[in-house]
Amino acid sequence: MKVGGRHFRTIWLKPGDECVIQLINQRFLPHQFVIEEIRTVEQMATAIREMHVRGAGLIGASAGYGMYLAAKEAAPSGSFDEHLVHAAGQLRATRPTAVNLSWAIDRQLKNIAGAKTADEKIAFALRTARLIAEEDAEQCRMIGQHGLKLIKQIAQKKPGKPVNVLTHCNAGWLAFVDYGSATSPIYAAHDRELPVHVWVAETRPRNQGSKLTAWELSEHGVRHTVIADSAAGHLMQRGEVDLVIVGTDRTTYTGDVANKIGTYLKALAARDNNVPFYVALPSSSLDWSMRDGLKEIPIEEGSAAANYGFDVTPARLVTGLITERGVCEASDKSIRALFPERAP
Ligand code: MRU
Repeated sequence: MKVGGRHFRTIWLKPGDECVIQLINQRFLPHQFVIEEIRTVEQMATAIREMHVRGAGLIGASAGYGMYLAAKEAAPSGSFDEHLVHAAGQLRATRPTAVNLSWAIDRQLKNIAGAKTADEKIAFALRTARLIAEEDAEQCRMIGQHGLKLIKQIAQKKPGKPVNVLTHCNAGWLAFVDYGSATSPIYAAHDRELPVHVWVAETRPRNQGSKLTAWELSEHGVRHTVIADSAAGHLMQRGEVDLVIVGTDRTTYTGDVANKIGTYLKALAARDNNVPFYVALPSSSLDWSMRDGLKEIPIEEGSAAANYGFDVTPARLVTGLITERGVCEASDKSIRALFPERAP
């Protein structure tokens, strides 16, 4: 997506130097646009843990590149596999909730194991890291196409008036490699000149909504209004929200959705006011090992002030999941039908 009129992704290999990964350090946004250079797996682990990069898809892409750096570091060490397993553990320990992290690490480990020499392993790791990033961008683009149909249906019912979409936290392009999940249908609508307005919940305690979502929507020229988290229900009661679209850090194969703390309350308010509540996700955010999101999904916590980082919205409150393959119900049967080859 665009920053100051120029196209950027959130993470990329430095042109002309395959030893360096460049990424947007989001801790400085919205005040400064800082590009950070990452050379070691240690630096990548810090970038994920300290939230220079954040958001499920981007955490996965960063871990993919982190494993590539680990392979480069492992080559001269004499104990390639040991080094790689250690690096995988280091990256895995950075954050608990987004399943894209372990998904990307496991994908790298599996692919690298198929190579014989150290050089081959590095080449496989680079190819896989690039593929993870490319797929993330393409899947988010597709989510935009499927979600656009939902926005169009609403637009047809209120000609000349903007479709009001409410979102929480940042499931925008900053949380992925490009486009975003929850924002992708919004950008697709905006780019086709469908009038769309976004209610951006500020998202306490770290304010990803007011700091990141508001910034990226501004950069793309999308009309939006920042609201206090607690104002969402009030707006829905007044009929000022047509549709809620949020992202997810991990969704069980039964459709329970872990997302930034405060999402569950928005789902409750949406249900009470008959507002459709959609969750947009690439399939890398599906956890095929977990049935009960409330019992099984690990929830990140901050310190001292009981800063729960995420909550779980039960499948029964979710109108549908918008994925790269289309929209489905938040149910075991419907998710399996869409991803038959992934289901265990
Ligand atoms: O703690 P963060 O910023 O990494 O949280 C992730 C999020 O921004 C949200 O929970 C988001 O809606 C899902 S990630 C695509």
